[in-house]
Amino acid sequence: MAATPFAAGRDADVYALDDARVLRRYRDGTDVAVEARFMSHLHAAGFPVPRVHRADGADLVMQRVAGPTMLQALVAGTIEVAPAAAVLAGLHRRLHALAPLPDAQHGDRILHLDLHPDNVILDPGGPVLLDWRNVRHGPPGLDVAMTALILAQAAVDPEQPMAAAADEMQRAYRHALRDHAVPLVTEALAIRRANPTQTPTELALLDAAAALLTT
Ligand SMILES: Nc1ncnc2c1ncn2[C@@H]1O[C@H](COP(=O)(O)OP(=O)(O)OP(=O)(O)O)[C@@H](O)[C@H]1O
Ligand SMILES: [Mg+2]
Repeated sequence: MAATPFAAGRDADVYALDDARVLRRYRDGTDVAVEARFMSHLHAAGFPVPRVHRADGADLVMQRVAGPTMLQALVAGTIEVAPAAAVLAGLHRRLHALAPLPDAQHGDRILHLDLHPDNVILDPGGPVLLDWRNVRHGPPGLDVAMTALILAQAAVDPEQPMAAAADEMQRAYRHALRDHAVPLVTEALAIRRANPTQTPTELALLDAAAALLTT
C-alpha cells in the first residue's frame, strides 16, 4: 500500500495515513469488529483510547496518538519506574470502574488483558491505552494478574536488559492495586500459555514468572 508503515507489532502492521490517523491491519486477517465496538464504548465513556474512525475486516482506522510508548520512555530514562507503575495501575482502576457493555455477565467488567508498557502511549495530554486485541468481559483481578504476569515474565528473562526495572515495576504495580493479582494468577497463566504470539523462549519463562508473583 502507498502509506508508510511506521510500526509493526507481533500481530499487526501500523501505517500512518496522515498526521491525525493510522491504519492498523492484522496480518492474519482477524476481524476487528469486537475490539472496535469496545473501543468506541470506552471512548464515549471518557477512557483514553484512540478514537475509532473505521473498522472493516482486519483494518482499523483510528486516531494517531502522539508521544513515545511507555517502554520507549523507560528505556530513554524520561519516565521513572515508580510513576510508570502508577500509570498502569491507574489505567486499570479507571477501566474497571466503567460500566460494561450490555451483554456482560453480572459483576463482570471490561478487561484489556494485555496492559503493559509497550501498549501505552504517553501522549502530552495523558496516557493512552492501545492494542485491544484481547478485550473481553471478566473479573478485574484477571486483568491485574495478567499485567503482573507480563511484567514478571520480563523480570525473570535473562536476555531482558530491562529485567531489574520490570521487577521493580511489577512490585510497585501490585502494591498500588493491593495485590489483587495473586488469586487469579493461575487463570492468567493458562490464558498466556495459550497465546499464539508467545515464543518458545517466552513460554519457558512463564512458570518462573508466576512463582515470582506467588512467593
Ligand atoms: N493509534 C495509534 N497511534 C500511534 N501509534 C500507534 C497507534 N496504534 C498503534 N501504534 C504503534 O504501533 C505499535 C503496534 O501497535 P499494537 O500494539 O496495536 O500492535 P500489535 O501487533 O498488537 O502489537 P504487539 O502484539 O506486538 O503488542 C504500538 O506499539 C505503537 O507504537
Ligand atoms: Mg502491542
